[in-house]
Amino acid sequence: MVRVVSEFPKHRPRRLRRNENIRSLVRENHLTLDDLIYPIFIRYGENMVEEVPSMPGVYRYSVDRVADAVKEARDLGIKAVILFGIPEHKDEVGSDTWSDEGIIQRTLRVLKKEVPEMYLITDVCFCEYTSHGHCGVLHDHEVDNDATLENLKKQVVSHAENGADMVAPSGMMDGMVRAIREALDSAGYTHIPIMAYSAKFASAFYGPFRDAAESAPSFGDRRSYQMDPANSREALKEVLLDVQEGADIVMVKPALAYLDIIYKVKEHTLLPVCAYNVSGEYSMVKAAGKLGWIDEKKVMVETLLSMKRAGADMIITYFAKEVAQMINKGE
Ligand code: PBG
Ligand code: ZN
Repeated sequence: MVRVVSEFPKHRPRRLRRNENIRSLVRENHLTLDDLIYPIFIRYGENMVEEVPSMPGVYRYSVDRVADAVKEARDLGIKAVILFGIPEHKDEVGSDTWSDEGIIQRTLRVLKKEVPEMYLITDVCFCEYTSHGHCGVLHDHEVDNDATLENLKKQVVSHAENGADMVAPSGMMDGMVRAIREALDSAGYTHIPIMAYSAKFASAFYGPFRDAAESAPSFGDRRSYQMDPANSREALKEVLLDVQEGADIVMVKPALAYLDIIYKVKEHTLLPVCAYNVSGEYSMVKAAGKLGWIDEKKVMVETLLSMKRAGADMIITYFAKEVAQMINKGE
């Protein structure tokens, strides 16, 4: 640790804050277009663009309308999107996730053709696709870890076949990264990276997402697979296991209430770290902004910057388009 001995009046830190020219010279962290990953919801149906009530400014698109949304993001300079699907038919195992006619597979084919510049990441899980809303196969009301791994393998290979550039498993199953790496490699997709939702907490901040994705569990909760919000060493354990299993990028989720975890993870791994600025974090800012209680844009920038400062190399955020607009305008 560097020691600072105050020698006021010789030392006056305010000298470096006098105007924007000098402030920008000494600024340590920046938000750039390179940081942003934009989440997109694709729902069954046709010719549909529907705003998510609890997430103003966020929409669910039918497959035939999604390309326009992604082109808009591309035109703003956003380079990557992460896709979430809401299928027409849910079943016990979530078989839509590995079907060639699945919602994500159809979306991938459209986007690869219509917006080839965009980097396509797929969220890999089952909760939006199962009738019970849990993140895997059930066995006596519990998610069966190893049976779920078998289905995850089918899901990622199918995503890769249909054009995914990267897969992002979010179900917090033990051994999921290893299983997925092996499945991709044996199918010839050695070049496709895995972004693991390594430290994903059982959080109330996912509420608006679950409305949007129709993925709330029909009974119980996710605390038997997602992490206890009280723990931080366990987050490191999860991250280090995923690194060993072959993850290319590790993620911390949620972000804002877990900045300490982002900081710690960054110190303990050499992999890039992604922060997920989740739905509840977005909706809180939007709601308070609407009421006129906070300056929405400033709070948005300040919170995203806090994630960069904590160590995030990239941020998944519903604010991506708004941030890109600000950056493009030079604000
Ligand atoms: C699916 C998944 C969830 C989120 C991303 N992937 C929901 C959950 O775990 O219940 C949450 C994203 C958000 O709140 O923005 N497993
Ligand atoms: Zn899930």
